[in-house]
Amino acid sequence: TPIRAPDGYTCCQATTTCDEKTVVLKDNCCPPPIPLNYETIPCYKLPTMTKLRIRSPAQNADEEYIDKYNKAISKMKELDKTEPFNPLGFKQQAHIHCAYCNGAYKVGDKVLQVHNSWLFFPFHRWYLYFYERILGTLIDDPTFALPYWNWDHPNGMLLPPMFDREGSSLYDENRNQSHRKGTIIDLGYFGDEVETTTDQLKCNNLTLMYRQMVTNAPCPLLFFGSPYSLGNNIETPGTIENIPHIPVHIWTGTVAGTPLPNDKKKSCGEDMGNFYSAGLDPVFYCHHANVDRMWNIWKTIGGKRKDIIHPDWRNSEFFFYDENKNPYRVKIQDCLDSKKMGYDYAEMCTPWRDFKP
Ligand code: C2O
Repeated sequence: TPIRAPDGYTCCQATTTCDEKTVVLKDNCCPPPIPLNYETIPCYKLPTMTKLRIRSPAQNADEEYIDKYNKAISKMKELDKTEPFNPLGFKQQAHIHCAYCNGAYKVGDKVLQVHNSWLFFPFHRWYLYFYERILGTLIDDPTFALPYWNWDHPNGMLLPPMFDREGSSLYDENRNQSHRKGTIIDLGYFGDEVETTTDQLKCNNLTLMYRQMVTNAPCPLLFFGSPYSLGNNIETPGTIENIPHIPVHIWTGTVAGTPLPNDKKKSCGEDMGNFYSAGLDPVFYCHHANVDRMWNIWKTIGGKRKDIIHPDWRNSEFFFYDENKNPYRVKIQDCLDSKKMGYDYAEMCTPWRDFKP
């Protein structure tokens, strides 16, 4: 049986694990109450599309785009102050990640978790889909598209500069300060700094990409992760979810155990390095745009690299608010073709294709 969209009524207090202890989160991350019960939340229909939104590599963005993007995020942040229960607000949007990943929802008698399984790619695709449309609506630009953090290309292996400008709405204090200002990222990062030249590091990253996209992911379940159906979930992440997706999170967030810049408490990896807070860093959505792009690219590599056919995957559902604040149930089935959803990725070369180990 596929998982059903969780309804807001079953949402309860979220928790996180920090220092091996379970902590109850002080922020309630459940969505604003819906005046409907599960059965009456409408199913989402993809709107007819006029012009594709094109997501481009973040490192190549021009000032005009950066301005626009900053404006859109500022508007989202303003909603937090003026209408704290507006589902389009910046915090409410970040809470979506918390609710789906930190134990706020139950499916059957188990906690819903959209990581470490085949729910990972489609959940985040729908999440970004609505996020992008909300940003576009806030600045009246129906073709607004998110940028993608092009970490699989040597020119994109750094925190994208537009997110590194202090005082801008794309900046987040809760990041590892020694991974800023052009530091080359290690796509295999789990907390230990590697001592090597930047060229060697880039080269290692390309080899890692080849391994995760090609060698280790010859068939659907290895790429997407293990099945997750009602009452049955062995949690094994897919190749890309595991690495580099997790390393990019950990590398960006603060070092666990160190004091947080804007708080007295000790870091649990915030913001990017913890599920509940990851969506509070604007770079989260840029990181996930590239994860999402990997899904499209993987399907072009050939062999058995195709979407899962199993109906439990195709019929699984999530719950989201659209850009008009209307609640919807969405199906995985409807998110398999990004062009049908109204967006695509700007053409960019993939040098890792030549890095067969
Ligand atoms: Cu939902 Cu990158 O994690």
